[in-house]
Amino acid sequence: MPTYAHITGWGMAVPERIMTNDDLAKIVDTSDEWIVSRTGIRERRIAGDKETTASLATKAAFRALDRTDLHPHDIDMVIVATATPEHLFPATACLVQDAIGAINAGAFDLSAACSGFIYGVSLASEAIRGGAIRNAVVIGSETLSRFIDWDDRETCILFGDGAGAIVLQASERPGGILASVMRADGSGGNLLSIPAGGSRRPATVETVHKKQHYIQMNGREVFRFATRVMADATRQVAEKARLRIEDLSIIIPHQANRRIIEAAARGLDLPMDRFFVNLDRYGNTSSASIPMAVVEAVEAGRITPGSRVVMVGFGAGLTWGALAVEWVAPERKISQAKRQQRRLRARFWGLRSVYRRFVRWIEGLIFGAHVPGDENDRFS
Ligand code: ACO
Repeated sequence: MPTYAHITGWGMAVPERIMTNDDLAKIVDTSDEWIVSRTGIRERRIAGDKETTASLATKAAFRALDRTDLHPHDIDMVIVATATPEHLFPATACLVQDAIGAINAGAFDLSAACSGFIYGVSLASEAIRGGAIRNAVVIGSETLSRFIDWDDRETCILFGDGAGAIVLQASERPGGILASVMRADGSGGNLLSIPAGGSRRPATVETVHKKQHYIQMNGREVFRFATRVMADATRQVAEKARLRIEDLSIIIPHQANRRIIEAAARGLDLPMDRFFVNLDRYGNTSSASIPMAVVEAVEAGRITPGSRVVMVGFGAGLTWGALAVEWVAPERKISQAKRQQRRLRARFWGLRSVYRRFVRWIEGLIFGAHVPGDENDRFS
């Protein structure tokens, strides 16, 4: 009997701090009117001092797991799609794996910028359908505000912080992830990049001085590329899943710019109300934008059991991709008791992590090994 990969849990987390267009107009030469008319964005969330890519991802993952009957022990794979990882290594996914207590899971980060969530779901669902794993958590999480040049009005108006997560589970019931498309064109890598901080151009006083650790973008070229690939990828994935474009219940596009989504709607000859849009409240949250939109679309009753959904995104790389999904899971409200349970569980896994570090420290004393950084508790 074939195995299918179903989305059974979904959750999101955003920082509390809201930055409106008017707030931005106090920092750079721009206006609410310009930003709304050129992008559709009205406000975005900005991470506070204690919020990180891993902490937002962990919250979203816990919320997604709450909607399922799974125990964290049951998870086989944790993927964090992110363009703003906590470190070059360890992977942000390992920090999340530790925090949620997924002690039987492999964990890795996926670097495909705003297409990362699509790529991650595609890989995890193939692993489920092939029988290698049964349960996976796929998260898109970003703290883009830490990589923004707040003097650059062309980029600082676009981005925001947040995280979205889904749980994928094996099932014999037909449906779930029906098809995926993953594409890249590295010849356009220079159009959207953070030039320094990697092995090609490690951090120096000069790279910092030249602001090469911030997002640099050729907006017009990215815009042209995006309007082309959004419609193409939607068509390709629908064809692979044997769905007609007019039969799609809803399209969840990457939330970069309302004009890009409108161009995709024109290209597909679909009305705008077939697309879910929440970029007005969050801006472009890169890999988090699609899972966050999925969560809000389910909560708004726009995705229900039987819905035929296409998720489609594009980003730096250049990368793009799409998923066709037959939604099966009903909306499940999370009870107060379950929330309480989650809080307790989070505390427990936090303590377990501290205990493991303590044991490692004792072993270091006994065997004389020195683990750099442990004494500063840097990964907590
Ligand atoms: N406020 C006021 N004026 C501005 C601003 C601003 N924030 N930014 C640019 N302008 C000015 C420009 O300087 C230019 O002035 P000029 O004509 O005197 O030179 C004018 O507005 C028009 O600039 P354009 O670049 O032509 O504006 P455009 O309509 O193309 O909009 C934008 C710019 C919003 C960046 C658009 O190109 C876009 O959305 N591109 C795609 C970006 C994107 O999606 N990036 C994310 C990819 S996903 C990922 O991987 C992270």
